Amino acid sequence: MRTKYIAGNWKMNMDRAGAVDLSKALVSELKGLDGSFMIAPPFVYLDAVASVIKGSNIRLGAQNAASTENGAHTGEVSVAMLKDIGVQSVILGHSERRDAQNESDKLINEKILAVLNGGLEVVLCIGEQYSQRIAGATEEVCGKQVRGCLKGLTPEQMKNVVIAYEPVWAIGTGKTATPEEANAVHKFVRGVLAEMFGNETAENTKILYGGSMNDGNAEALLAQPDIDGGLIGGASLKADKFSAICRFSVK
Ligand code: PGA
Repeated sequence: MRTKYIAGNWKMNMDRAGAVDLSKALVSELKGLDGSFMIAPPFVYLDAVASVIKGSNIRLGAQNAASTENGAHTGEVSVAMLKDIGVQSVILGHSERRDAQNESDKLINEKILAVLNGGLEVVLCIGEQYSQRIAGATEEVCGKQVRGCLKGLTPEQMKNVVIAYEPVWAIGTGKTATPEEANAVHKFVRGVLAEMFGNETAENTKILYGGSMNDGNAEALLAQPDIDGGLIGGASLKADKFSAICRFSVK
């Protein structure tokens, strides 16, 4: 049976003191909760946050990783470097990177393979734009992203992959897909995984929802059978809101 997973994507927010304070507050709020939690601070604060959450029930995530191992790649951060400072999970394919950095499914696929080869978990983001939803292309878009990004992976490697369905029109906008709308896409994605990797992998893969999930709507979203958790942006920057969502996930 799939258990729930709540991940916080801090994006390009916080300063060092704020990152330390927030992670300290989360360690204390989530202490003793029997669930799966992850926070992904900006690269430069990973080390500081790693020291705070060490030994707690919170996993350390990064918001990106290079597809290459090392060498002349100015500004890039490798999987080995992330591992070295205690990172356990990497968010890849976020729509903000697909848009602003022009990341293609092919590049995301290369990054996924690099992260998995390094032994870390991948949180792969997928999702349609608003214009694509109203054109009835949600399944086509999400299916293409899943197939392109997970190309060449084995069912064994899929054990370290989590998918986050994030309709782009819901990210940071305060608009969420209704629990039923979101669940329908999750179900569709699970079907694509079944075609690619078989039923067992499809049933075991966690599919999170992301896009304006907060402490007010999380309970209803998490109650859906195919929604296995959340990837939280804005609401992950407040300890009380994020921990409230985490508590819903272990009910
Ligand atoms: P949001 O961001 O919760 O602020 O909408 C979610 C995400 O982009 O991962």
